Amino acid sequence: MQTGPDDARFPAWCEVWAATQRADRPDEAPRPARDHVALGRRLATPGGSVTGTHRAAVADGGVVGALRLLLPVRDNTTVAYVDLAVHPAARRQGVGSALLAEAGRLAAAAGRTAMVADVDEPVPQTPGRAFALHHGWTCDLRESRRDLVLPVDEARLAVLEEEARAAGPDYAVLTWRDRTPDDLVEDRALLGRRMSTDAPSGDVPVEEEHWDAARVREEEAAHVARGRTVLTGGAVREGRLVAHTELHVPLEQPERAQQGAMLVLREHRGHRLGARVKVAVLRELAATLPQVRRISTYNAESNRPMVAVNEALGFRRAGGLSAWTRRL
Ligand SMILES: CC(C)(COP(=O)(O)OP(=O)(O)OC[C@H]1O[C@@H](n2cnc3c(N)ncnc32)[C@H](O)[C@@H]1OP(=O)(O)O)[C@@H](O)C(=O)NCCC(=O)NCCS
Repeated sequence: MQTGPDDARFPAWCEVWAATQRADRPDEAPRPARDHVALGRRLATPGGSVTGTHRAAVADGGVVGALRLLLPVRDNTTVAYVDLAVHPAARRQGVGSALLAEAGRLAAAAGRTAMVADVDEPVPQTPGRAFALHHGWTCDLRESRRDLVLPVDEARLAVLEEEARAAGPDYAVLTWRDRTPDDLVEDRALLGRRMSTDAPSGDVPVEEEHWDAARVREEEAAHVARGRTVLTGGAVREGRLVAHTELHVPLEQPERAQQGAMLVLREHRGHRLGARVKVAVLRELAATLPQVRRISTYNAESNRPMVAVNEALGFRRAGGLSAWTRRL
């Protein structure tokens, strides 16, 4: 049945996700309910870049399954993103299949022709993978997760920074938190657009995203509402932002940060700007948010330059993530 952030069932809906995360990655704090609530409100707010809806599977009066459907509205209007979880105590009873059928109906009713879902894979054989294969989905992208345990050895940072500076002496590096400086916001929008085309997406049926300054501000506000702070490192040449990297830190549980978007514009590659902005943001993180103990990042293995930068910094493999598609 339908639910949402203002529904009495929503805390139980969030608990399905928390129980799933505790089962799958027991050493990590699950995503707080506040995060789901803020995302839910965003999906219900007209005029944004994404809408969506929530469904709860209910048995004996309790919520046993959770579905969130995300529908991009400015671009990728043929795709519906599906988030789906079944409480570990209620699996293998057809609950996931029932929710997936509902997702298909909702997506088709919204005019979508494909559904895309991510499956977290801490180990090779996950229920999510078996479930997706059972339902005839295809795996269109496989990424590896890598974790960096903090603090990073200062000598390692210093060597990387020195090499990177030598390779790009004409670039200045700066950092900011949560709000992109006004004079760089148009350039930040271009980086968002390029991120949607240049980051490897395998065979996932996604197209270029439409970004402008308003969308940058919308995303920034969404992160704040979700209780996250975002640290960014950027590289500037002649006043233009040409590269960036973002770290997302959940303020309620700051032990683990997530790597967000990261891109060097094609015409500025080859100057080690990726390493340079990453070093800058790591230094800023150590100075301002020393509670962060670990950073997780996801990369396609084919993305060798990105993986090389991460490995040089000390990131090490910690499972994977796969993206699955089903045409409707
Ligand atoms: C994946 C998930 C949603 C499945 O929910 P579920 O209610 O157990 O799924 P169903 O009972 O409808 O399973 C349908 C079929 O999928 C396959 N399947 C599901 N879980 C499986 C498992 N652990 N091992 C092997 N096959 C499995 C089976 O073929 C199953 O049919 P069967 O039970 O008759 O053999 C649930 O395990 C989950 O929440 N996992 C974590 C989140 C996740 O990975 N989401 C997937 C996004 S696509």
